[in-house]
Amino acid sequence: MQVQVSSPPPSPGTACACGEATEAEKLARITEVVEAFRDKPGSLIQILHLAQGIYGYLPIHVQRLVAEKLDVPVSEVWGVTTFYSFFSTKPRGEYSIRVCLGTACYVRGGVEIVKRLSQTLGVGVGETTPDGKFTLEVMRCIGACGLAPALLVNDKVVRQVNPDKLNRVLALCE
Ligand code: FES
Repeated sequence: MQVQVSSPPPSPGTACACGEATEAEKLARITEVVEAFRDKPGSLIQILHLAQGIYGYLPIHVQRLVAEKLDVPVSEVWGVTTFYSFFSTKPRGEYSIRVCLGTACYVRGGVEIVKRLSQTLGVGVGETTPDGKFTLEVMRCIGACGLAPALLVNDKVVRQVNPDKLNRVLALCE
């Protein structure tokens, strides 16, 4: 599988504006994680979770690093990264809003919620607002079917979503 690199990785030693770890430090931490977990069966998903926690998302150069350190093809890492919705290959916003489109939420207006959020935020599904505040995503059942439609704001479940509630949720994120 041919994996395209859309943009070059940030140069090592580049610190972000908030004073977090530098690029080099993050990559070194990911290398440590791979070394620590590489011999555990089925460790790839766990390593990718940790790598995403360290880096924030999983761009291709991070996937390449993981593949190289695990001695597996990049296509294998790419396949897992793109299969699971909780992994992202692009930077996410400060608030990740994931609308449930499982059956219960779908029949109770999940798609309308997606449309409304898309209009309000001015982004499509899978996109992040230009200010880096919100990322709009969809996902399957989040276990709140009895109080559908539901969505997640980062890890927090919001149940029985309606337009008023949606506005309040967005206002709380400001
Ligand atoms: S279908 Fe949405 S919470 Fe289950």
